[in-house]
Amino acid sequence: MPTQNEIMQALSRVIDPELGRNLVELNMIRELKVQDGRVSFVLALTIPACPLRDQLAREAERAVSTLPGVKSVEITFGAMTPEERQAVLGRGQPAMPKLNQFNRVERMIAVMSGKGGVGKSSVTALLAVALNRRGKKVGILDADITGPSIPKLFGLPPGGLRGSEQGILPAATAGGIRVISTNLLLQAEDTAVIWRGPLISSAIQQFWTDVLWGKLDMLLVDLPPGTSDAALTVVQSLPIKGVILVTTPQELATMVVRKAAHLLEQVNIPVVGVVENMSYFRCPECGSMHDLFGPSHLNEITAAFASPPPVVRLPLQPSLATLGDSGQIERAEIGELDALVEILTEPK
Ligand SMILES: Nc1ncnc2c1ncn2[C@@H]1O[C@H](COP(=O)(O)OP(=O)(O)O)[C@@H](O)[C@H]1O
Ligand SMILES: [Mg+2]
Repeated sequence: MPTQNEIMQALSRVIDPELGRNLVELNMIRELKVQDGRVSFVLALTIPACPLRDQLAREAERAVSTLPGVKSVEITFGAMTPEERQAVLGRGQPAMPKLNQFNRVERMIAVMSGKGGVGKSSVTALLAVALNRRGKKVGILDADITGPSIPKLFGLPPGGLRGSEQGILPAATAGGIRVISTNLLLQAEDTAVIWRGPLISSAIQQFWTDVLWGKLDMLLVDLPPGTSDAALTVVQSLPIKGVILVTTPQELATMVVRKAAHLLEQVNIPVVGVVENMSYFRCPECGSMHDLFGPSHLNEITAAFASPPPVVRLPLQPSLATLGDSGQIERAEIGELDALVEILTEPK
């Protein structure tokens, strides 16, 4: 005849598949009695209607009935008290909840360019400002890790990030746009400790998973410059729904657009708009338009798409550079982007 101890040992080999721990450890075996080879006990379930009830009972019965001398096994079902359940479930939970479970981001759009210096960050910022003015909740994820310039455009000081128990809180601009960028992080002493290691390996992903973005209508991603690996990696590691391309008349814009479109086609992400930046200069005196950097490639760009997205021309506007340099991009008035902003506010 088996002792109570031997029976408990047999039952400790039955694992609750949901909790990943055995019945004894989970304190599920109660009122164990052994008499003349007849074994009986109560199986205390975490909830009375536990879907695993019958499976657990079957396995418990099998474990006990194979012990020498056992004639019968009688199992009755019981339920844990809320406190017992809390104690059992609490220990099994992961210590840190996944942060992005608190994030509700309606749409994520990335801004891409063929090379640096064409105004990718400026366009990202201007789009955010325009959306914000229309009452949308907007964030900017500065994924240009090695050349971050978003905080400067908004006058956000380096190291201004704060952490909460649930994770990193984005910085907020004067107008309420939420921003995450490496140069907000690196000088924040308390957060740098947490971020330094992961920064090297998967900073971008952490900008998404470990940041409390909260509820946003739009999260704009300022990509690293270029249409190759670095940018593509970012696009693929985030749930990006579309890309806006920034070109200038100076570069081989048509080629940039073709390359980007081709690249994005492979990962099934549409180009939702193209900005030809520094496209012309409007003379403040006579109002006439001048092609400073050569003719616009608007038509060729449009021709590169089977169904062309909206393409807008943005003028060279010295005030834009001045406002950006002094951290006041939120004061900029760029009506030329309206067509794109419309697209971004359209319900999907
Ligand atoms: N339409 C524009 N008119 C005047 N200056 C601009 C315009 N677009 C960008 N700039 C200036 O050009 C520089 C590069 O722009 P930026 O947005 O930082 O480019 P990128 O992010 O592609 O490197 C900045 O000094 C910016 O102020
Ligand atoms: Mg930039």
